[in-house]
Amino acid sequence: MRRILVTSALPYANGPLHFGHILEAVQTDIWARAMRLSGHDCTYVCADDTHGTPMMLKAQAEGITPEQLIAGVEAEHRATYQDFLIDHAQFHSTHSEENREMTSRLFLALEKAGYIATRSIRQAYDAKAEMFLPDRYVKGTCPRCGTKDQYGDSCESCGATYSPSELIDAVSVVTGTPPIERESEHLFFRLDQFEAMLREWTRSGALHESVANKLDEWFNAGLRDWDISRDAPYFGFEIPGHAGKYFYVWLDAPIGYMGASLAYARRTGADFDAWWSKDSTAELHHFIGKDILYFHTLFWPAVLTGAGFRRPTQVHAHGFLTVNGAKMSKSRGTFITGRRYLERLPPEPLRYYFAAKLGPGIDDMDLSLEDFVNRFNSDVVGKLVNIASRCAGFIARGGGTLATALPQPALYEEFASARTRIASLYEARDFSTAIREIAALADRANQYIDAEKPWNLAKDPARAADVTAVCTQGINLFRVLMTYLQPVLPAMAEAAGRFLGSPIRHWDDVARPLLGTALAAYEPLATRLDPKVVATLIETDAAAAPAPAAVAPKPARAASSTAPPAAPTPAAPAEAPGEITIEDFAKIDLRVARVLAADFIEGSDKLLKLTVDLGSEQRTIFAGIRGAYEPAQLVGRHVVVVANLKPRKMRFGLSQGMVLAASGDGTGVFLVAPEEGGAAGMRVK
Ligand code: 2FM
Ligand code: ZN
Repeated sequence: MRRILVTSALPYANGPLHFGHILEAVQTDIWARAMRLSGHDCTYVCADDTHGTPMMLKAQAEGITPEQLIAGVEAEHRATYQDFLIDHAQFHSTHSEENREMTSRLFLALEKAGYIATRSIRQAYDAKAEMFLPDRYVKGTCPRCGTKDQYGDSCESCGATYSPSELIDAVSVVTGTPPIERESEHLFFRLDQFEAMLREWTRSGALHESVANKLDEWFNAGLRDWDISRDAPYFGFEIPGHAGKYFYVWLDAPIGYMGASLAYARRTGADFDAWWSKDSTAELHHFIGKDILYFHTLFWPAVLTGAGFRRPTQVHAHGFLTVNGAKMSKSRGTFITGRRYLERLPPEPLRYYFAAKLGPGIDDMDLSLEDFVNRFNSDVVGKLVNIASRCAGFIARGGGTLATALPQPALYEEFASARTRIASLYEARDFSTAIREIAALADRANQYIDAEKPWNLAKDPARAADVTAVCTQGINLFRVLMTYLQPVLPAMAEAAGRFLGSPIRHWDDVARPLLGTALAAYEPLATRLDPKVVATLIETDAAAAPAPAAVAPKPARAASSTAPPAAPTPAAPAEAPGEITIEDFAKIDLRVARVLAADFIEGSDKLLKLTVDLGSEQRTIFAGIRGAYEPAQLVGRHVVVVANLKPRKMRFGLSQGMVLAASGDGTGVFLVAPEEGGAAGMRVK
């Protein structure tokens, strides 16, 4: 068993989590869960990154203290991560006693070892606000190309880099007054002392090759000392022995990984030193975006080494996320927050989509909403869930117990023996290949069921045992696939474990099939994504963005994202054509009914045959809902039936009523189902 500590980059505590944060957390969480399925002791910690000038100024602007600001954001971040099923052992804060303790400890060790230098620098100062200004807080005209309104570090128009004092007509973003230059003493970390160590570490397997190559460029450019102090006023930790000086946020942020794990260790009794001490045999894995490589692959290993701690085992960098082919942008409405998504959709479809697109490198990844809908509906609902729902009903009708032997043990073995490869793909962060191979197995499982046709066998009572055997094979193939997807779809895997009467805990659970055991009642494991709801993820117009249940906007292609929302229906005149009166409506006898049985109909890809209980009688109804529901999903549910519809003779038999369902322009069909405790026979008003 390996002991592993894993982290993702700490989100800033001054705003909501967006899809970029969710992508990274999902990647880390999948990896950590996969390691646990291999039996390793894998602990995933994270925290909010709380310090710095932006926090201080934002709190000021809102008229609250920075502590109040970060407490509110932390609660929101915590809830959002949880709702995306991110399994943090500890979600902490860099503004914590544990982090203060670790930051001081590391700094004092670095200072004692001679890795801290002191020297004076000249910096922009806002005399009105009485504060030094970070480069991004000075704006002016680019000295090279003359573009106005550029930040103090670089020009977005011509790409020039410079210092704020070079800007023409510079002003402070805080007060709008021209900054002056002021001298101040700063503390520097002597990064160049660690070049040999870093060159060796870079090629030790800690980094993907593309990242290691990038580091060579930085080595060749020369490693410069790193300014780790800021002057008051600053929201952060005061530096011990240096009154009025504060640790720069980027020093205490990665130390937040230690702070979070220290808080976890103190809460649970876990061994902090086993993860962090110089001679640790544990593994330390950081997941980050490629934009913060410099901090994690140069400063961070050097700080750890200089202070007498271990270095990271691996730094896993990922690329940026684009939405519908373009950078996420507030003005395009594609800056999608985690909360906006969760208000509309469950977490697992997005986890699945991210997994299907994530590889081990640093390539950027595009979220195409259309592709998202198709992938999830096709792979998860159409292929994976389909296997379970097709087989569950037959097993239930045959007594609810799996057969005692598989009809095709070799096929099962082929599925089960893929686990070593799947586990290593997860470990190598090649999730997209893992998902592709799992989807190919799901195709094979469906082909098996299609070839055996249990629905045909079921017509002959003498073949009941064969039906159970075929479906036992199908259920076992489904179990293997669900195990392989557990890191990605943990809630579905848990529900599947309950259905199977056998929780999913380890890759090796699939070494033997489930035979002769009882299945629990099948509950639908996933439902199709409605493209109309998914389209509302993109804000077509911040003020007019409709709630998901209201009038849906046009599909969220970039080209139509600025289309105005559909006009509301105007108030209709008293007797418009096509209207019915209340008396007409009263003629319709709507009743709640319970679905007793649901079956496929041979020769129809639209209809399902339902047997429903109206309380006083049972009816057979042919309903056009096959595209949206698997029969097993319907058994036991309450639906609304038009009870006095004239019976209609159909090719398959007599249909004695109609089940109410709603549909839009897309593929979704939804049963109008009373969720509030309706009982069969009740009248619907
Ligand atoms: O870039 C960011 O969003 C930083 N808040 C990441 C910090 S990661 C670690 F160093 F704490
Ligand atoms: Zn310029």
